[in-house]
Amino acid sequence: MDNSIMKEQNKNIQNPDQELWDRAAIDKIRKKLEKNLSAKRYQHTLGVAYTAACLAMRWQADPVRAEIAGLLHDCAKEYGEKELLSLGETFSITFSDAERAAPQVLHAVVGPGVAQRKYGVRDADILSAIRWHTTGKADMTLLEQIVFTADYIEPNRDRASDLDEMRALAFQDLDECVYRITDHTLAYLEQKGIPADPMTEQCYLWLKEKKDDNSGTGENCSQCDGREAGIRNQSH
Ligand SMILES: [Fe+2]
Ligand SMILES: [Fe+2]
Repeated sequence: MDNSIMKEQNKNIQNPDQELWDRAAIDKIRKKLEKNLSAKRYQHTLGVAYTAACLAMRWQADPVRAEIAGLLHDCAKEYGEKELLSLGETFSITFSDAERAAPQVLHAVVGPGVAQRKYGVRDADILSAIRWHTTGKADMTLLEQIVFTADYIEPNRDRASDLDEMRALAFQDLDECVYRITDHTLAYLEQKGIPADPMTEQCYLWLKEKKDDNSGTGENCSQCDGREAGIRNQSH
């Protein structure tokens, strides 16, 4: 059990009315994160927060909630695997087998608990955007999609081969962008022989079906059809 988190619960940043986030409250969160995160992760965190706020403006979501969710999306990422599992117990979280097998996903599962207890956030929309920022899922909310995308495209990112395209696409067609990110992620995991989280597969299928419904043509690329069939077979 992480006692420091339980102790901090009593000296939360108080913000009883989540509709009234002001700059001072957001700044308190930012300063606390600056203390708790590595310099590199803090820079990434700021990048996600600013990018999420911009995407929220573009897609008519709440830019303040987007900024806060962006700031806190990796608030649990400095913990080691053991600590994350122990925090999960503290927060009464039941991890799925896929989550237990993929330590890189645990910080997203535990993140809402840390955001709540250590940073005083109770807004369900913000907490769910933190929860699903790594794997995505089916039927994502707009804010969830925004934070998921911002995490991939923020300005400090430089590894993904399709970054330039995704940065432009995020402001043109958000569904398509999330679809392409999950497609890229699934292809990468497949190539590395790493099992994909079922939630990422569900996210991919959800957006693929949405695309097919919208196009009404039923014409799909053969690689995408192969992936879809593969995911569907696994789930039987
Ligand atoms: Fe993350
Ligand atoms: Fe991140």
